[in-house]
Amino acid sequence: MQSRKSIIEETEAPWGKDVRLLVVDDEEFIRSIIRERLEIEGFSVDEAQNGLQALAMLRDGDYSVLLTDIRMPEMDGVALLREASRLFPDTARIVMTANAELETAVAALKNGAYDYILKPFSFDILFVTIQNAIRKQALERQLHDYQVNLETRVKEQTDLINSFYVRSIQSLIKALEAKDLYTRGHSQRVTMYSMAIATEMGLSPAHIEDLRRASILHDLGKIGVTETILNKPGKLTREEFDEVVKHPEVGTQILSPIPDFRKILPAILHHHERFDGCGYPKRIAGTEIPLASRIMAVADTYDAMTSTRAYRPALPEEVATAEILRCSGSQFDPEIVSVFLFAKDKIQENSDPSQYEWQDGEFPDGECRPVN
Ligand SMILES: [Fe+2]
Repeated sequence: MQSRKSIIEETEAPWGKDVRLLVVDDEEFIRSIIRERLEIEGFSVDEAQNGLQALAMLRDGDYSVLLTDIRMPEMDGVALLREASRLFPDTARIVMTANAELETAVAALKNGAYDYILKPFSFDILFVTIQNAIRKQALERQLHDYQVNLETRVKEQTDLINSFYVRSIQSLIKALEAKDLYTRGHSQRVTMYSMAIATEMGLSPAHIEDLRRASILHDLGKIGVTETILNKPGKLTREEFDEVVKHPEVGTQILSPIPDFRKILPAILHHHERFDGCGYPKRIAGTEIPLASRIMAVADTYDAMTSTRAYRPALPEEVATAEILRCSGSQFDPEIVSVFLFAKDKIQENSDPSQYEWQDGEFPDGECRPVN
């Protein structure tokens, strides 16, 4: 990419026939003497006798430089500059002024003039002033282009980095599914239950989409737990349990470099908190726990109970439902338990959990697919 330094070095002001110039003055003598002298230098020069006429000519022509007097009838130089800098920013603007009008010249600079020249002036000074104004205008335009290109390049690089991270996460999901076969079906079903609850609660499509991603990825951190522990048939030792409870934090650490995933990290981090504050990892309680985590907690536990695990067979749905009800207000948010009981029946009628798997190539802005 071109550097600022090289842009400055390469900014050669055009001269002579490449420059079309508009001279604005109410005194015909001044206009014609400037015009004649500039035409000798090879410039293409037009004349206007006031600001209004100049604006009309600027609309029709492609002028590199506007050279204007200040005191003119109908529309003065300051008003002309204000309009010209707004409507024709690519035209370099110079003010001609008498000594007595210095304050007005300052006003002109504030209103978009690149430079001013004091009357009477030598043509050598006029040429230098024109050249400087053209160079300054070209530099401003190139810096603007550079800024636009820079923003585009930064976005391209950010998207590329994001896509690398997303691919890495897809690989991690596959690795986790390979070492813990239960995870794949579990994540899909937790997503299905969570979205059914969220839809029943009337959450917005954006919140439902965040919940979908969080649900699919909620146990990603189990990639850090050994297969022996994940598939252990019996009860876990204290040390083994300490390993398992790290998975919400490990999962958020894995996902945190991806900007688009950052907003779902709290939901993942807190999906094992309890409503009474006795969960993990932060032991927060009640509505301190993100809503998405409270929803996932119900969905996660219900599916864990109704699935066959390494350490026990699946429990009947009535038993699992009774257990969810028993833990309403202690482990779970009672409002969400009520919604879940209602939403669960609709799921059994309508839903296919396989639609909730993480799609290959899915990017963080995948479409929302709420349960009907
Ligand atoms: Fe979990």
